Amino acid sequence: MHFDCQERYPVASQHPLAHNIDYTLVPHEIIAQRIRELGETISRDYAGQEVVLVGVLKGAMPFLADLMRHISVPTVIDFVALSSYAGTSSTGVVRFQKDVEEPLEGRHVIVVEDIVDTGLTLHYLLQTLSLRNPKSLEICCLVDKPARRKVQVSPKYLGFTIPDRFIVGFGMDYEEHYRNLDFIGVLAPAAIAP
Ligand code: PRP
Repeated sequence: MHFDCQERYPVASQHPLAHNIDYTLVPHEIIAQRIRELGETISRDYAGQEVVLVGVLKGAMPFLADLMRHISVPTVIDFVALSSYAGTSSTGVVRFQKDVEEPLEGRHVIVVEDIVDTGLTLHYLLQTLSLRNPKSLEICCLVDKPARRKVQVSPKYLGFTIPDRFIVGFGMDYEEHYRNLDFIGVLAPAAIAP
């Protein structure tokens, strides 16, 4: 089960970055509740077992930090760094900048991502990690933007399905800014460099 986000919430006017955000797509309280549910579901699915969460830097950082605190089975965290974006568009070329440090063979691995857009990043990452022979390999993703999919990727654990808008906040950036917003917002066109 996941939430289809179509609503537009106002941006809290006191927020210093409010003038750069058109509207809030997912308020903080709804994100927090959904992450709690995802953590509880993962805890049930992996009862009695250990999971290795592989966060995809940098965007997944706040999601992983919150998610892991709602997982009650033994949990190990690790990170990879991949990049395919420049400005607001994907270059389509995935670069592997940092590998995991943990061995993955025979372990239950969950890749934790902030967003699946074209799917190229996760497709590449899953192909690469599956060669390490994990016992299981799943995806937990905060938001899915299915309208832009180029390759088939289906997260088992998904927070929200969103429309085709350029979103920032809760780890997601525009030119490295806005990751620190505690909500997911749609960037105002005027805030995007021509
Ligand atoms: C973003 C996001 C995903 C990827 C999704 O990463 O965090 O990893 O793009 O896009 P895709 O489905 O089209 O491949 P980005 O390269 O912007 O790096 P970041 O996490 O450091 O922001």
